[in-house]
Amino acid sequence: MEIKGLLDDFPTTKTVDYLNAASIGLVPNPVIKRSTEIETELAKGGTLALDEEKETLIYDGLREEGAKLFSCDAEDIAIFNSTTEALNCFAWSLDLKDGKVISTGVEFPSVTYPWLRIARKENVKVKLITAENWRIPIDVVLNEIDENTRVVVLSHAEYLTGQKFDNDDIKKIAKRIHEIGGLLVVDGIQAAGYLPINVRELDVDIYIAGSYKWLLSPFGTAIAYVAKKLCDKLEPALVGWRSTEDMWNFNAQELSYASTSRKFEYSSSAYSVKLGLAESIKYLRNIGIKNIHDHNKKLVDILAEELISIENVDIVTPEDRCSILTFGLKDKDSKIVAKELRNLKRPIEFSLRLGLLRIAPHIYNTEADILHFVENLREIL
Ligand SMILES: Cc1ncc(COP(=O)(O)O)c(C=O)c1O
Repeated sequence: MEIKGLLDDFPTTKTVDYLNAASIGLVPNPVIKRSTEIETELAKGGTLALDEEKETLIYDGLREEGAKLFSCDAEDIAIFNSTTEALNCFAWSLDLKDGKVISTGVEFPSVTYPWLRIARKENVKVKLITAENWRIPIDVVLNEIDENTRVVVLSHAEYLTGQKFDNDDIKKIAKRIHEIGGLLVVDGIQAAGYLPINVRELDVDIYIAGSYKWLLSPFGTAIAYVAKKLCDKLEPALVGWRSTEDMWNFNAQELSYASTSRKFEYSSSAYSVKLGLAESIKYLRNIGIKNIHDHNKKLVDILAEELISIENVDIVTPEDRCSILTFGLKDKDSKIVAKELRNLKRPIEFSLRLGLLRIAPHIYNTEADILHFVENLREIL
């Protein structure tokens, strides 16, 4: 993949090695421009810039881009304001009573909290599978599924450890959970933008991806795929004027829903960021998701190879990894090391999570960024 020309869209990369897409991705200039233009138009023009027909259709472009990203129909996509909002909305829309929810012990809090919250109110058991050496063994997840299991919920790629569940593993979980009438919910915020995703082939019931990490988009939106057969059955937990088939009928006496995944969209929102996400998905698809995957994988592979040869480094991320590589330091304070790396003449930006260094390269990173990081880490250690 040729990324030279592309770097002009990310001016920050001229002065910083930005290795932090797992936290916040850099937004390309054309997306910032589009999103800002729309925000300005709306602020200045009110209904002159956004008439009723335009507001009705305002998510359609994002829905179509989301469908191309997930390989599904546009009508299967619902637009939310964040991944956490979508996870909560679906969790509260499901009938979990007297059942079991399975997740893992290495999830981001928003993945497990909605179910733990429901378990405070209803008789629901939440089982979190313990990682072995930071890795979630897929067989343990499969063995935990029993006739009481209503939902398995996990991240496609884990935010902390960088473990990626490969397609066959996801399909195995889907098959097992469907056999007993349960659902598979996947949080793809750490996967969408560089992993090719085919929700139908994976046979997931719900797949959610937020905007501001690997999708290189502003904050304030997430897209969710809802399988048709499930969508028809669910009562949305959150409802409002946009939930209905005709949002301008203002029939407050009677609640009815749109016939597609649109029924989960309940209110107005920051429309400019939704259009921004549509633009960024288009941007990423133009480069090619498979090309981005190969580019990111190459960088993470180089990083892993280099780190193995550094004595004080303890790699957490398993072999089945995504575009995240996480490691600890023996006999060194990671906070001090991180500070030194951030204070370099050409600073290196990344995240510390639970005392571990988490490196997350994306399309705007080069081999030189990785080698600069490794060289300086070696020196500091
Ligand atoms: C796996 C995962 N899910 C959810 C979130 C939070 O997403 P949002 O801010 O869109 O609610 C994060 C943020 O790091 C995450 O890593």
